[in-house]
Amino acid sequence: MNHPDRPGRPEARTAAEAIISRRSVRAFLPDPVPRETITRILCIAGRAPSGSNIQPWHVDVVTGHTLDRLTAAITARFDGGDFGDETYRYYPSPWREPYLGRRRETGWGLYSALGIARQEKDRMRAQHRRNFLFFDAPVGLIFTIDQDLPVGSWLDTGMFLQNFMVAARGCGLDTCPQQAFAAYHQTIREVLSLTQDRTVICGMALGRADWSDPANGFETGRIPVEDFARFHN
Ligand SMILES: Cc1cc2nc3c(=O)[nH]c(=O)nc-3n(C[C@H](O)[C@H](O)[C@H](O)COP(=O)(O)O)c2cc1C
Repeated sequence: MNHPDRPGRPEARTAAEAIISRRSVRAFLPDPVPRETITRILCIAGRAPSGSNIQPWHVDVVTGHTLDRLTAAITARFDGGDFGDETYRYYPSPWREPYLGRRRETGWGLYSALGIARQEKDRMRAQHRRNFLFFDAPVGLIFTIDQDLPVGSWLDTGMFLQNFMVAARGCGLDTCPQQAFAAYHQTIREVLSLTQDRTVICGMALGRADWSDPANGFETGRIPVEDFARFHN
């Protein structure tokens, strides 16, 4: 794997550096993140544009005992065979090309970095379970939106999410956005005292990457520009 900015990955200095050096990190060091740093990242993320500047995003920052309570409650459900329920559709249904092929490539890329073979369903499940520990990150985030807001506000919140991840790189930190949490919205509601009028969009892990962990040895590729852009003269 080619990681030009390892080891240590200093903070990104330009917007392009921050965007390009962002990747989904699935193993973190226990080093705590100071509250001022989290606030700074949130403040930068909050500069995201939104239609009429309505700023529809909400985020719960979870650390310490509350993080332990949340991860324990969700993993208990997962271990009991309760895989939660879908609050909104994130993935295509049914899957079709070209998205199915890209999804498979990503899944197998991660599993092969972890040495998990195709028939090792238990190890795949164990890897999926690591989502609910925020991959051992010291900070977990839960992003929510008012249930009555339409797709435009989800678009705005997506920009906020991306800003957050890029701003984290600007502070030398790493993230993993985690839709996996949405299935456990009921438990999240209970632990964080969220009201029913909010939809849980996703979770996110935040911290310093552990580059010695094979889970971070996988780097995703991207399709070339000509495959998704057209120029009209
Ligand atoms: C909204 C969103 C939700 C995601 N949910 C998960 C998740 O639950 N678990 C996980 O391991 N990765 C999750 N990912 C990470 C994607 O798999 C990852 O972004 C994609 O494979 C591209 O890799 P990169 O982020 O390293 O560039 C999510 C990404 C996004 C944008």
